[in-house]
Amino acid sequence: MKEFILGLPKVELHLHIEGSLEPELLFKIAERNQIDIPYDSPEALRQAYQFEDLQSFLDIYYQGAHALHTEQDFYDLTWAYLERCKLDNVIHTEIFFDPQTHTDRGIAFDTVINGIYNALLDGEKSFGISSNIIACFLRHLSQESAIETLESILKHQDKITGVGLDSSEAGNPPEKFKYAFQLAKQAGLKTVAHAGEEGPAQNIIDAIDMLKVSRVDHGVRCVEDEDLVKQLINNKMALTVCPLSNIKLRVFNDMSQHNIVDLLRRGVTVTINSDDPAYFGGYMTDNFMAVNQSHKMTKSELTQLTINAIEASFISEELKDKYR
Ligand code: ADE
Ligand code: ZN
Repeated sequence: MKEFILGLPKVELHLHIEGSLEPELLFKIAERNQIDIPYDSPEALRQAYQFEDLQSFLDIYYQGAHALHTEQDFYDLTWAYLERCKLDNVIHTEIFFDPQTHTDRGIAFDTVINGIYNALLDGEKSFGISSNIIACFLRHLSQESAIETLESILKHQDKITGVGLDSSEAGNPPEKFKYAFQLAKQAGLKTVAHAGEEGPAQNIIDAIDMLKVSRVDHGVRCVEDEDLVKQLINNKMALTVCPLSNIKLRVFNDMSQHNIVDLLRRGVTVTINSDDPAYFGGYMTDNFMAVNQSHKMTKSELTQLTINAIEASFISEELKDKYR
């Protein structure tokens, strides 16, 4: 089955580019930007990646992202991720970035988006990997800050397909960003949101009803509301599930407890994604392998995960036809 999973074409819909910053590249970038890292080696830093919950991860993740300063840094980060995509037979990826993590410390929005976008263009040329960019609002910040960020996003709408919502879910429900999402929608952007990762099923309902999302990031706590699961099935609402992330952040105790295969067998449009692979110990193939090891899936079920991701992606109908 390993050969089958490796060769299976994959589509990634939930990847934070800042979360793909491997310790080795972090050290290299920090050195050229003359930033001190309080660890002796990349390996020592990797050893420190032990998390109790989402917040304990986010604290370390934002620290790591602060090493990124120049357009070249964002290019190198994105390029390294694309090289991993090539190894994993990822044919299309929709990547998140967190503009406020950078603009709030004085890095220009243009620096960030240009570095990421140019690497993605080169990834398409060199590897044939198609891509879209989704800019996420940090939900621990205010709606005013999100709207200010939206103004920058709209200046780069030729490069950005949609907006998302990430960071600390507890205490920051979808409702807080209703107006910002309404403005984004009116401007023609797609919308997605993290919901039902650590927060309750109600956040999934509110992301769908109030933020008009096209898909839900994580969404695994939908099982706490049977009517919601039925609605997800009937409306073919996709969940971008991140199995290794969920184990690392203790959303589930271990992979055998994870509900992704149950949801797939019930007809929910679930997909497999890597979230923050540099922090959670695995890219796309690793996530597929880990789920299959605990749940013994058929080839047809594994293929369905890719079909689900193609259907839930923001690629054009023509390109979907090519990938189907
Ligand atoms: N930002 C990066 N990874 C995240 C996750 N898994 N949940 C919420 N915000 C994030
Ligand atoms: Zn995420």
